[in-house]
Amino acid sequence: MSRLVIVSNRVALPGRRGGGQGGLATGLVGALAAQGGLWFGWNGRLSDAPATPLLEHDPPITYALTPLSHREFEGYYIGFANRCLWPVFHAQLHLMHYEPDDLSIYLEVSWRWAGELVPLLGPGDLIWVHDYHLIPLGCALRAQGVTSPIGFFLHTPFPGVDLLRALPGKHRLVEMLLGYDLIGFQTPLDCQSFYRTLAFFLPEAHREAGGVRYRGHLTRVDCFPIGIAVEEVGQLARSGRHNRHGQRLEASLTGRRLILGIDRLDYSKGLANRFRAYERLLERWPEFQRQVVLLQIAPLSRTEVPEYGAIRSQLNAIVGDIHARYAEYDWMPLRYMTRGFPRSTILGFLRQAEVGFITPLRDGMNLVAKEYVAAQDPEHPGVLVLSGLAGASQELEEALIVNPYDIEEMAGALAKALAMGLEERCQRFQGMMERLRRGDLRHWITSFRDALAATAPAGEGG
Ligand code: F6P
Repeated sequence: MSRLVIVSNRVALPGRRGGGQGGLATGLVGALAAQGGLWFGWNGRLSDAPATPLLEHDPPITYALTPLSHREFEGYYIGFANRCLWPVFHAQLHLMHYEPDDLSIYLEVSWRWAGELVPLLGPGDLIWVHDYHLIPLGCALRAQGVTSPIGFFLHTPFPGVDLLRALPGKHRLVEMLLGYDLIGFQTPLDCQSFYRTLAFFLPEAHREAGGVRYRGHLTRVDCFPIGIAVEEVGQLARSGRHNRHGQRLEASLTGRRLILGIDRLDYSKGLANRFRAYERLLERWPEFQRQVVLLQIAPLSRTEVPEYGAIRSQLNAIVGDIHARYAEYDWMPLRYMTRGFPRSTILGFLRQAEVGFITPLRDGMNLVAKEYVAAQDPEHPGVLVLSGLAGASQELEEALIVNPYDIEEMAGALAKALAMGLEERCQRFQGMMERLRRGDLRHWITSFRDALAATAPAGEGG
């Protein structure tokens, strides 16, 4: 079998796989733990010395880790990736901030990484590039002589034409995507947006069965919804439920019903609206006062990006408002924390929650929503209240699907979730579990890998 080479900006570093790292790292650890391979990416450090990637072996994975210079960190990671692409891809144009130098530095980082990766490659490797940070990498590798199949998977949504029109460098980036042999998206909607984008910005690209032909090169395009390791999540949730933190949480609730949200602290996660919806629940259905607790765990993320500082201050103010209005000397309605916890503790908390409240304004998939379901006790499952603008809502149809911009609707869904009887909860849970099992993490990995291997000329790869 060919070796799998994964390239991503964020790497789940060996020995430092804590909370708050996001779905990409969690999914990729699973991908490589299953079959081994090479994982190339950022070591999380800044250094202005000339870089050579350091190899670290943690069988069956070999890591090749490289630092970013201060200039690269500012221009590539903070600048173009997280102040331009991220807000555009998550439909938050008003938060986009563009500096022309950032785009050049963004392109340069892919070129440099390609130069560092090429000597580590062998014949027959399958190269799988991840996420919006590295769109130019496929072309950079080809330009530096790589002939192996190269695939790209986008973990975020792919934006519609109207959003993309606002992105500087869009023509070039869309063209660079067509340098890959395979492009994978999370959902059929993202595939559709991509095809519409091509028709608008690159009409010379021709659609063919299963892909797009541009300047003679065929790029396959398909949707590969990322899944979770369902059994492992269930097992970790069972052990986490009764660990030290699980017991402390249970004791602290004194019989009150737990509503739980877990997200990186990111403006795309819709936390302000979520808190307002909870406040509305307490206002419209006062019988829930003193009976429920909303615990929101939101580990800090991208703290150097100014827009993340702003959402933090906004959330602090809303939480303060809600406490001032509803807290009692023996009841805090909302517990809001910005630290992370080990994975099994988080999964144990999810198992304890009667309601999983996951309402991003936009999200590629949202693995926490899937983990909430898989973490449940099948005899007494909780209810998932899920944003219709998260990719996961296209699979988890039995969740209570809400519009994350509609505070009233979200409050109503919380009330419905808290009132739902066991039979209905079990039915909904079983429907979702079936789909989670069918489209689990292993399925995601093997289907992308096989599709990528199939792009190789006969006799190579696979
Ligand atoms: O899942 C989307 C994503 O941007 C990943 O690419 C990333 O690993 C994760 O969120 C966390 O973000 P960051 O790497 O910026 O900390």
